[in-house]
Formats: sequence, structure tokens, C-alpha cells
Amino acid sequence: MALRLDDAACSARFQDYVRRLERELDRRCSPGNESSATLCEAMRYALFNGGKRLRPQLVYASGEALGLAPAVLDAPACAVELIHSYSLVHDDLPAMDDDDLRRGRPTTHLAFDEAVAILAGDALQALAFQILAEEPALNHPVPAAAGMIAELATACGADGMAGGQAQDMALEHQQPDRDTLETMFRLKTGALIRASVMMPAALVPDLPPAQAACLREFAEWIGLAFQIRDDLLDVEGQTDVIGKQTGADQAHGKATWPGLFGPDAARRRIAELDERARTALNRCTGDTRGLHWLADRLVNRQT
Ligand code: IPE
Ligand code: IPE
Ligand code: MG
Ligand code: MG
Ligand code: MG
Repeated sequence: MALRLDDAACSARFQDYVRRLERELDRRCSPGNESSATLCEAMRYALFNGGKRLRPQLVYASGEALGLAPAVLDAPACAVELIHSYSLVHDDLPAMDDDDLRRGRPTTHLAFDEAVAILAGDALQALAFQILAEEPALNHPVPAAAGMIAELATACGADGMAGGQAQDMALEHQQPDRDTLETMFRLKTGALIRASVMMPAALVPDLPPAQAACLREFAEWIGLAFQIRDDLLDVEGQTDVIGKQTGADQAHGKATWPGLFGPDAARRRIAELDERARTALNRCTGDTRGLHWLADRLVNRQT
């Protein structure tokens, strides 16, 4: 019974976080005086289209574990969703995964054109860092902006998402071993999930290293499980539910977990990673109920 009450309370609280994020994104991603109207339209098309907002929810959940107020977490929550949305626009381009459906709608390069989609991705990325650099709540009383910017930049650069995307492309039509495949997953997907959990830690300068380490470990296992689930949904999901074309990975010769090792082994690997994530999280102090609840949604998602 206690668990069910927790579940209902988390569900309501995280719905509030998502509403809060949508408001903040709307306010922070609006045309400037000299902006190209088409570019802004494409940025907003890529941003406001029914994404699950899991990474911002991780930011707020990590903040709960660290005892932080939501108001100081709005900027990192927006920043990580901006980076994620940019990564999806570029991921769908003909030169990359060449996909035509995203979040149930035509991909940005089809709704606009390729040049506009590339530039919208660039501008979404720049806006993420501008928001972190300019947010007053991240500069006083704790100077946290530089730490958050470093965390996010590492997660989306050559040692993070962009590097992983390069490995993903290089592994097309290859048969990598499990470690090679999972290294690519850790970079292309795991790094941004790790940044979502770790950015709030910049607001807690006296955070014990052991607490930072268990949060990081939790995020890394969850991030890996998240991408394996994504690969499974491409095989077993339905297009109208996941909002993406199913079977796209096989059509493009992608190296995927179920493709290389089978769906049953993929499900077992997800359960094993989930278990490791929970063990790490159980070592963290603070209120981790939100992180536990969210981990379940990430790992067992059906969309
Ligand atoms: C999809 O991420 C891309 C991956 C990194 C696997 P999400 O499943 O979080 O996508 P949205 O934001 O809800 O559309
Ligand atoms: C993750 O991989 C994409 C990014 C890091 C942007 P996928 O290529 O599998 O993501 P989906 O399935 O297109 O959402
Ligand atoms: Mg891809
Ligand atoms: Mg893709
Ligand atoms: Mg996928």
C-alpha cells in the first residue's frame, strides 16, 4: 500500500515538473529581435512535439535527492532537453539515420528542409549553453554555471553524444562484440543521461565524493539500459505507439543489442543493469524515491 501511495505521489509530482519544464522552455525558446522566423519555427517544431521529457525529469529527481529547490533546476532541465532535441534532429538527417518520423510527426528536415534542420540543431545546442551561462540562480549564492556547462559539454561532445553517434555510424553493417557496442551506447545515449543526474551536483559544492560517485554509477547503468530498451522497441514496438518507424535499425544495418545477441538476452541484460542501478542508488543518501520511480519508467518504457 505504501508503495502505491508513493507511486501516485511521484506520478503527480513529475507531471508537475513536466508542466513546469514546458512553460520554461516556451519562455526561453522564443524568437529574438533578429532571429530568422523559419529557423525559430523549426527549433520550436523540434522541441514542442510530445517528447517524454525524461532527461529534465531526471534533473528534478536528482535535485530532490540533493535537497535542491526546483527553481534552481529549471535552467539545467531546459538545457538538457534542448541538447537532446537537437541530437534527435541531427540523428534523423539523411546523412545519419535517415528517418522520416519522430514523436509521431514528420522529422524536422522533412517538415522544413535539411539546411534548416541542421541549423535548428545548431541553434538549439547554442541556446542550451546560453541558458546555463545567463541563469542568475546558477551564479548566486553558489557559482554553479561553469560546473554545469562543463558537465553538459563533456556529455554532448566528442567524448559523449557526438562521439557515440560517430561510433554508431562506423558500426553500421558490422558485428561488434558486446563491450564495443555498449561503449557506443554509453557515449551516444548514456552520457546525456549521466549529465542530467550530475548537473544538479554543481549546486552542492560540499557534496561528499561518495554521494557523487553513487549517483553517477546509477545514471550510467540506467543510461545503458535505456538504449537497449530503445533497440528492443525498434524491433517489438508499434510505430503508432513509439512515434518512430519500427524496423528502422535493421533497415539501416545498425548494430543493436537485440540484433546482435537476441531479444531475450537483451531483456536479461536490461534487468541486470536495472539491478546494478538500484544497488548504486540504494547507497545514496537523501530522498531517492523520485529517482527510483523514474528509473523504472526509463528502463521499462513502452514508448
Ligand atoms: C530517444 O530518446 C533517443 C535515444 C537516445 C534513444 P527518448 O525516448 O527520450 O525520446 P523522446 O524525447 O521521448 O522523444
Ligand atoms: C540514439 O540512438 C540517438 C541519439 C543519441 C540522438 P537512436 O538512433 O537509436 O535513437 P532513435 O531510435 O532514432 O530515437
Ligand atoms: Mg541513431
Ligand atoms: Mg535514430
Ligand atoms: Mg533507436
